[in-house]
Amino acid sequence: MSEHVRLEVEDGIGTIRLDRPPMNALNADIQHGLVAACREASERSDVAAVIVYGGERVFAAGADIKEMEAMSYTDMVDHSGLLQDFTRALARVPKPTVAAITGYALGGGCEVALACDFRIAADDARLGQPEILLGIIPGAGGTQRLARLVGPARAKDLVLTGRFVGAEEALAIGLVDRVVPSTEVYAAARTMMQAYVGGPAYALRAAKEAIDRGLETDLETGLEIERMLFSGLFATKDRATGMRSFVENGPGKATFEGA
Ligand code: CAA
Repeated sequence: MSEHVRLEVEDGIGTIRLDRPPMNALNADIQHGLVAACREASERSDVAAVIVYGGERVFAAGADIKEMEAMSYTDMVDHSGLLQDFTRALARVPKPTVAAITGYALGGGCEVALACDFRIAADDARLGQPEILLGIIPGAGGTQRLARLVGPARAKDLVLTGRFVGAEEALAIGLVDRVVPSTEVYAAARTMMQAYVGGPAYALRAAKEAIDRGLETDLETGLEIERMLFSGLFATKDRATGMRSFVENGPGKATFEGA
């Protein structure tokens, strides 16, 4: 896969672990590794949900600036597709995903977090898109996903100034969903993802896809995406199980197979 990225699977939860001390700077090897880890997590039936985690100290301080410094315009024309591919691969994982953020999530690191469904941050975490301070702009989806998540004015504030936000401000503007003590970040992410283990996998997949694809298009097209995915779930065992269980035993008692 990659020297610096691995997929660890335990009790139905896959953890994509970024491991390139000291700052998990995202070089080309990690970028390829993330694409591969996302593909594996997507395909494995023993992975119900995914955590992206950079360890106890740092999530990721962005693309590897030392690697990029020597690149020419044509080098970056060739490489820039990969920058978007690793966050796209994460956004397209057809299972719930959460970024467990300790320390810094900056530049490409923040963009990795933005490509997850949810973000849990340590109380001392710092997030931002400081690319402007390097004379560039976010290139792994940040201008698009940040604006969709927190709105255009807040995204422009962060992207045009490059300033960092602390966990509380990130929570207030919707950039993260929960703030916990730094020692509890990974456990909180596991608890959040545990809720999806043993869930109706194809309904979860359809729900995520309907929301994400719908947000990329107009309302009528989004409604049509919803209608087709909704109808398609009537081909699953879990739909039959869920409704039969309700009729026989009342709400919330179904045991799903993920089929
Ligand atoms: N790329 C390469 N190396 C990095 C790095 C990065 N993004 N971030 C940190 N490092 C390296 C530092 O150069 C330093 O290396 P040396 O020990 O060899 O000098 C080491 O990690 C530790 O960093 P600092 O000494 O700077 O540690 P600090 O605690 O003082 O500061 C920091 C930490 C605030 C994260 C600071 O390092 C920093 O600002 N990093 C850069 C953040 C950034 O600009 N990210 C955006 C990158 S561009 C991008 O991501 C483009 C895109 O959209 C895809």
